[in-house]
Amino acid sequence: MRILGLCGSLRSGSFNASVLRTATDLTVAPREFVVWPDLGRLPFFDADVEATALPGIVADLRAAVGAADGVLVVTPEYAHGTSGVLKNALEWMVGGGEIAGKPVALASASTAITGGDSARAWVSQTLTVMSARVIPQDLRVPQAARKFADGRITDEPTLTALRELLDALAEAAAEANETNGTFA
Ligand SMILES: Cc1cc2nc3c(=O)[nH]c(=O)nc-3n(C[C@H](O)[C@H](O)[C@H](O)COP(=O)(O)O)c2cc1C
Repeated sequence: MRILGLCGSLRSGSFNASVLRTATDLTVAPREFVVWPDLGRLPFFDADVEATALPGIVADLRAAVGAADGVLVVTPEYAHGTSGVLKNALEWMVGGGEIAGKPVALASASTAITGGDSARAWVSQTLTVMSARVIPQDLRVPQAARKFADGRITDEPTLTALRELLDALAEAAAEANETNGTFA
């Protein structure tokens, strides 16, 4: 059971990246949590480039999504939407089709009290159009500056909520594997 983590923030002190780091810590075998290292290295989506010379890094990302049983997408909120970095990555994933039917969970951490609700709504809409199976459970972390230390979640209710989200995603991934006849 492999879950892939994708983060839409490039900031070194990113709270969203810290959610993924914490998810890695919370995951125990036989589950595996793999974080895609840096969506910022993807070139801007260009349909001509996609049609003529798919960049290796895009092929790698598509393969990583294809090899995952589920995906946890964490997004920052910028100007009431998601980041250009994450939207760009999703645009590259459209053509590959690997995300179609894949269970996906969404999380957002924001310094604001709204917790990144608008960003998650944007990402959910985009992923739904891409035929991803966005699970109903999600994680919002408002007032993030109070809930992290040293790159990890320290707030107990947020930790519990993340554990529950990871369990829900794993359950959805197991169900999807059963439907597809894949042993998880
Ligand atoms: C340019 C910019 C725009 C932002 N716009 C919003 C916003 O619309 N809503 C919100 O909740 N937070 C907004 N924020 C705050 C970010 O959500 C906050 O900085 C968050 O910590 C970013 O995620 P990260 O910690 O993973 O980098 C904005 C921050 C920046 C730098």
